[in-house]
Amino acid sequence: MRYKSQSVAYWYFAVAMVLFGLQLVFGLLSAAKYLGPDPLLYILPFDVTKVIHTNLLIVWVLTGFMGATYWMIPDESRTELHSVKLAYIQLILWTLMGVSAIIGYLFRYGTGNKLLEQPLPHKIVIVICMLIFLYNIGMTIKKSGRFTTTEGVLLIGLVSSAVLFFPALLYYENYTVSIFYRWWTIHLWVEGVWMMIMGAFLAYLLIRLSGADREVMEKWLYVIVGLVFIAGILGTAHHYYWVGVPQYWLPIGGFFSALEPAALAGMAIYAYSAMRRSGLAHPNSLALHWTVGSAIFALFGAGLLGLAHTFPAVNKWTHGTLITAMHGHAAFYGAYAMIVLAMIVYALPKLTHGRSEEGSTLGYWAFWLQVSGMFGMTLSFATAGLGQVYLERIMGMGYLDAQLKIQVHFLMLIATGSLFALGVALFIYDFFRYRPRFEASEEAIETEPTVTRKR
Ligand code: HEM
Ligand code: HEM
Ligand SMILES: [Fe+2]
Repeated sequence: MRYKSQSVAYWYFAVAMVLFGLQLVFGLLSAAKYLGPDPLLYILPFDVTKVIHTNLLIVWVLTGFMGATYWMIPDESRTELHSVKLAYIQLILWTLMGVSAIIGYLFRYGTGNKLLEQPLPHKIVIVICMLIFLYNIGMTIKKSGRFTTTEGVLLIGLVSSAVLFFPALLYYENYTVSIFYRWWTIHLWVEGVWMMIMGAFLAYLLIRLSGADREVMEKWLYVIVGLVFIAGILGTAHHYYWVGVPQYWLPIGGFFSALEPAALAGMAIYAYSAMRRSGLAHPNSLALHWTVGSAIFALFGAGLLGLAHTFPAVNKWTHGTLITAMHGHAAFYGAYAMIVLAMIVYALPKLTHGRSEEGSTLGYWAFWLQVSGMFGMTLSFATAGLGQVYLERIMGMGYLDAQLKIQVHFLMLIATGSLFALGVALFIYDFFRYRPRFEASEEAIETEPTVTRKR
């Protein structure tokens, strides 16, 4: 670790790890309910476990983004953070907000807007945390006077994420209007501005891990960001097919969202070619696994499986079925969970005492168990979803009858989900195995590029 203040990232990552573990408990609980009978029906019904599962996801991924930013900005701007104290205040406020929201959901205290269920007081705390965060990193960059393109893209992604949270603060009486604006936050986050955040972390990691030229990497970063923007904004319309808005949204949604996979393919090619240039030359090849893995899994989960149901002619059958869950899992995991885990694995040897740069056997088990577990979960949701669409939407069978017929796929989901959870348990254990470091260390000073290129 080059700068002492980067150690705040450790605590953000630690909170993210705990919430990630908890998220899976509620995921497995939600899956078990599909097998029925449900002994927890009146205490923890499906809607409660699912809302906790998805909200924990959003909170831990955002905690990870914040930690990774606090790690990256000093490195890029070559300075200490503006205020370590503010960073800790923000973390405490944020964690209290996240945990109390979850406790609230247990008592049915929430607003019921999928993924944005946080009650208004919690949403206000989210805004305060974002303001503290943006102020702190803005001041850090201003103080240093060094502002890289990678940082610029990250900052635009973070500021826009905060701005796009605004529609979620308002209440709309009309359901169509409410749904219409809900996607300004959710869709424009995951298929727009979070892509910039992911792209910036990807560029940062690839520059450090592969020793690729900064100018070349940053030029490509611009291209990818451009593609995301062109396709992602109007691509929002792929959520407007059946919500009660005029029909012209159908062709707009189909056309523009079908362009989105191009940006994801760009990212994967970008990562793969950077890796090919230097091979696995950087000592931390585990971090490179996570980095390249993220770009490839995102192409699969978001690009390919997104495209699979984005045209209106397909979506009229698959909308709101387990096909959506298939895509939601693979996309979220590949693009956002894996990039956060990549940043953690990259930073961890420098944030802790006694950990080897190469990563441990345990670390590789965590990687492969998670990747194969998530792949299996995706297939389980996919097969369940295909069955559901056929029986329910084409044959006209009732919802519950169709669910009974597809139960076997939920056994598969629990089996593969358990493999995945084992991978996550190993990752969390590996995370907490070594003591955190609070001081900058001389030997960890890294100059760019970090490795000699093969060709
Ligand atoms: C042990 C692992 C997991 C299991 C067993 C699991 C299971 C489930 C189940 C049963 C649902 C409800 C689906 C429905 O509405 O019918 C769900 C929803 C969801 N899960 Fe997971 N999950 C797991 C891990 C994850 C991970 C790691 C992520 C993201 C990185 C994730 C993201 C989501 C999302 C985004 C939804 C909402 C999908 C939608 O609304 O269509 N889950 N999960
Ligand atoms: C990293 C990027 C992405 C993530 C994290 C993601 C995640 C999700 C999630 C969680 C949902 C369920 C939302 C809800 O019902 O509340 C969803 C829905 C959807 N996604 Fe994505 N997605 C991504 C990219 C894409 C792309 C690139 C496409 C198209 C090419 C796409 C197509 C769709 C469609 C059509 C739906 C609506 C499904 C339905 O009608 O039920 N997604 N996505
Ligand atoms: Fe979308």
